[in-house]
Amino acid sequence: MAARIHPSILSADFVNLERELARIAGADAVHVDVMDAHFVPNLTLGLPVVRRIAEVSPVPLDVHLMVEDADRWAPQYAEAGAASVTFHAEATQAPVRLARELRAGGVRAAVALRPATPVEPFLDLLDELDMVLVMTVEPGFGGQAFIEGTLAKVRRVAAAVRAARLPTWVQVDGGVTAQTIGRIAAAGADTFVAGSAVYGSDDPGARIDELRAAARPTLRA
Ligand code: DX5
Ligand code: ZN
Repeated sequence: MAARIHPSILSADFVNLERELARIAGADAVHVDVMDAHFVPNLTLGLPVVRRIAEVSPVPLDVHLMVEDADRWAPQYAEAGAASVTFHAEATQAPVRLARELRAGGVRAAVALRPATPVEPFLDLLDELDMVLVMTVEPGFGGQAFIEGTLAKVRRVAAAVRAARLPTWVQVDGGVTAQTIGRIAAAGADTFVAGSAVYGSDDPGARIDELRAAARPTLRA
């Protein structure tokens, strides 16, 4: 199985989103970072923009909500045209209820964990989730350095998914580059968000292929 590469439009030119989306047509999905200036100290885009992105994107939308009160907001992103909606564990009162609501709305449901948030409370609930996002930087900004200590959590999630024989994807977000992706894949991640690594390249399509190739030798079968 090839590694899934999800470029983050956080590092794209926000004034030319349609053109920027066309540059990553070879990706598996586009990662859309929604920030509310409360859950994280940054503000990006919201529902109206996500609706338009869904209309013009050549690839499915992987929406990463970095917003407070996920129970209220996440279902609206499912309706906005996302293929997958990721809410933060720290921003929901009822993760299983929310995941079920998202699935009932026809989208993949995912939970995200900040670097200091343990995955253990979710390990018995993995069949309620289509993806677990292990944040490998503190959410809020692109271009930060990968936090090595998060690899142990990636290993624990991947081991639990394997042990339960579930189809749950293991995603990482933050500091993913051609230099770091090999060892993240070796830890068991299969889905990789890359913002600056893709959009910082003159040829995003070639960089996507390069990242996929760099992940492949160590990716589990
Ligand atoms: C950060 C966002 C990431 C960001 C990653 O809070 O969730 O998706 O775009 O950027 P890079 O790949 O540059 O670390
Ligand atoms: Zn993200």
